[in-house]
Amino acid sequence: MELPTLDKFPRHVLAHLDIQRGFIASRLIIAAEKLQVFRLLHGKRMKSASIGRALQIRPSRLPSFLNALVGLGLLNKSHDAYGNTRLAEKYFVDERSIYWTRQYSQECLEAYEALSALEECLQTGKCGADIRGRKKPSYVEAMTRDRRRAEDFTQMLFHFHREDAAALARHLDLSGHRKLLDVGGGSGVMSIALVRANPQLSACVLEIEPVCKVTSGIVRRAGLCRRIKPQAGDIRQPLPAGYDVVMFCDVGPISKPMLQNAWDSLTPGGLVVAVDRFFSDDGAKPLDRLLGSLVGSSVQMTTRGDVASAMRSCGFRSVKAKRVWRDLWCITGAKPSRH
Ligand SMILES: C[S@@+](CC[C@H](N)C(=O)[O-])C[C@H]1O[C@@H](n2cnc3c(N)ncnc32)[C@H](O)[C@@H]1O
Repeated sequence: MELPTLDKFPRHVLAHLDIQRGFIASRLIIAAEKLQVFRLLHGKRMKSASIGRALQIRPSRLPSFLNALVGLGLLNKSHDAYGNTRLAEKYFVDERSIYWTRQYSQECLEAYEALSALEECLQTGKCGADIRGRKKPSYVEAMTRDRRRAEDFTQMLFHFHREDAAALARHLDLSGHRKLLDVGGGSGVMSIALVRANPQLSACVLEIEPVCKVTSGIVRRAGLCRRIKPQAGDIRQPLPAGYDVVMFCDVGPISKPMLQNAWDSLTPGGLVVAVDRFFSDDGAKPLDRLLGSLVGSSVQMTTRGDVASAMRSCGFRSVKAKRVWRDLWCITGAKPSRH
């Protein structure tokens, strides 16, 4: 899966974008995504008035909006009819699902809102929502209240984590294990790859209830209903017992109590697995995580070293941190067979 990183844009466009204009251009593209301009123009050309009617954009605002997208190399125009360029068609339609378009543009809007108070956040230590006096629900609360958000988020991550899942399945040897608990397992994308690579393995995906509904559909379409079961639960509470692998993948900061719960759930000889784009021990990598932390509600920066020492302090042995691929790391620890 390819993202529309800046190197995909025409050079003559990038050459005109200083930092301020870059910010405005970025916001403009997000508006186009949110309004679903590229999906509307998928495989066809339309007059500006028809685009305006379809997307409910005022005629007075249309020319600057559409022509700026032409300037960015995302739309082309002839005789007042607009269409997607190949760039827009590839990266904003072909490479992403409707779930991705909806969820990602929503997350971007929330990030812009948070960024408007960045200096104050830095100087007061408060988060953007506190400064604006409007407490925002966490993404988990938002999904619990709104099933469409649960579906958009989960389907987006299913798409987004596919390559990570394939890399993890190549990296992690679970040939000697039978029962995996995928804590906060979302769409089940990791479990799907792991059970496919290990024919003796079955998995339970522990998730909030609205996500479980989406996961069930994904697992059914993957033909793995018998081997992967979603189960509603809270990942911060004691975990169901009797698993010989407990995995936390991209679930945010992994606290010592969570690892302690994993210990309690594991059978003797079992394995705890933490997978994420963890911060390097000096905190300077990975860049996309660092930038994300400036707009997120959590200021906690869990490093690989933090997770490894929390595992050791819970009693796990042979704790190892290894790079899976790109910025993705896997930290494992073994519960001794006898203790
Ligand atoms: C970023 S997603 C990662 C999903 C999956 N592990 C993956 O790698 O694709 C984190 C998941 O953790 C779940 N989660 C977070 N807090 C939770 C809680 N308290 N109880 C149950 N699930 C939770 C969310 O619903 C979400 O699906």
